[in-house]
Amino acid sequence: MYRVAVFVGSTRPTSSNLKLAKALEKLAAGKLQFQYIKIDNLPFYDDALWNDPPAEVMRLKREIAAADAVLFVTPEYNRSIPGILKNAIDWPSRPFGESVWTDKPGAIAGATGGVSGTAAAQAHLRSILPVVGVALMGRPEIYFQSRPGAIDDDHHITDERLSTNLNIWVERFTDWIGMFTKPQQAVEE
Ligand code: FNR
Repeated sequence: MYRVAVFVGSTRPTSSNLKLAKALEKLAAGKLQFQYIKIDNLPFYDDALWNDPPAEVMRLKREIAAADAVLFVTPEYNRSIPGILKNAIDWPSRPFGESVWTDKPGAIAGATGGVSGTAAAQAHLRSILPVVGVALMGRPEIYFQSRPGAIDDDHHITDERLSTNLNIWVERFTDWIGMFTKPQQAVEE
């Protein structure tokens, strides 16, 4: 079992990206243990704050350091990622030389109602994450166009073909993590 720190780029309780993350968690049961990381209480990045680092920032760095892998599930905001997500990426990358992202295996996914399926936002993530040190899985990719009923209330993917493809994604991501780390015992929540 690998522990995956999950970053959802939307804080809406009814977020389609949170639903997609929960659907992936369900498909990955027994292989990946998801831990949803709180990012909506971080201050905006400010270099001066390292003089007396905010507790939330240090908590964030610890959670990433303890995880075997990281997963970003992001909406697209004006053809990029939401600012809240960028802020949560910037903090753990500092102080310079102390990035906790370094060599963390990672993957990305995204959901939108739009036909682009967050392709532009994910392209930006693909340029940001390797720079901070994440070992990013290239493929398979997930561009999820959310439609009513696509994910049911139990976080079950209703389309069989899509479910098969996401199962393949789970297998590949698990293999990808395995190239970097050994599985840990499941942790009781
Ligand atoms: C959007 N949305 C959007 N969608 C898209 O496909 N491409 C885009 O560039 C944008 N831009 C954009 C900007 C802003 C400020 C907002 C608030 C929204 C729509 C967005 O993808 C949609 O609201 C998603 O449902 C948001 O994700 P959650 O909250 O459902 O996870």
